[in-house]
Amino acid sequence: MVTFKIERFDPDVDKAPYFKTYEVMAEKEMSVLEALFYIVENLDGSLAFRYSCRGAVCGSCAMRINGKNRLACQTLIKTLRAKTITVSALPHLPVIKDLVVDMDHFFAKYEKVKPYLINPSPAPAKERTQSVKERARIDEMINCILCGACYSACTVAATDPQFLGPAALTKAYRFLADSRDAARGERLKLVDGEHGALRCHTLFNCAEACPKYIVPTYSIQKLKGGLYGKQS
Ligand code: SF4
Ligand code: FES
Repeated sequence: MVTFKIERFDPDVDKAPYFKTYEVMAEKEMSVLEALFYIVENLDGSLAFRYSCRGAVCGSCAMRINGKNRLACQTLIKTLRAKTITVSALPHLPVIKDLVVDMDHFFAKYEKVKPYLINPSPAPAKERTQSVKERARIDEMINCILCGACYSACTVAATDPQFLGPAALTKAYRFLADSRDAARGERLKLVDGEHGALRCHTLFNCAEACPKYIVPTYSIQKLKGGLYGKQS
């Protein structure tokens, strides 16, 4: 048996969040997400959480698990090496219910950096090609699944609601560094200003939280270099 302490909060009913304890019959290789299903199916059907792919691809199930932002589907109970597992919603995001947070601000910032290829030249008949070396420059950033774990862990985003945040800035650099993109000036303008890349304090909280081992700080440093007129 593993004890799960889960933070519950229904803004329509509760005055403040509180923890509720559940005993889960943990099976070998069981993930935290599977434990949440066990709770809903056997102990308490009112628990709310978000998921979709169950395979660390969709980014829906990011939550705080034993003091760290993680994907519930990617986190096996056995790897936590703990008799009690504490689960709460991603910090610094408004809670809709229990473990479900409101990601609207996160995605509004993502949209601000124009997360798509900009190239006004006529598209070639087949495709815009890229060399292996050119593609390698953006390999890491392309792996982002927009889970919000980095954003939630960022203390600058927590204190400056307008700060673009690590995920949006990583996406901005992903396109700035893409050999097929032709909007370098426009992209740098989008990440300039007091709430842009220069606001980052280089704390690396984002990198520590990322379940895909992306280092947003790297992209942000490259953007800072671009803003100071260096090639990035
Ligand atoms: S950079 Fe990592 S932590 Fe941040 S949104 Fe992308 S996958 Fe999630
Ligand atoms: S359910 Fe899709 S990332 Fe966990």
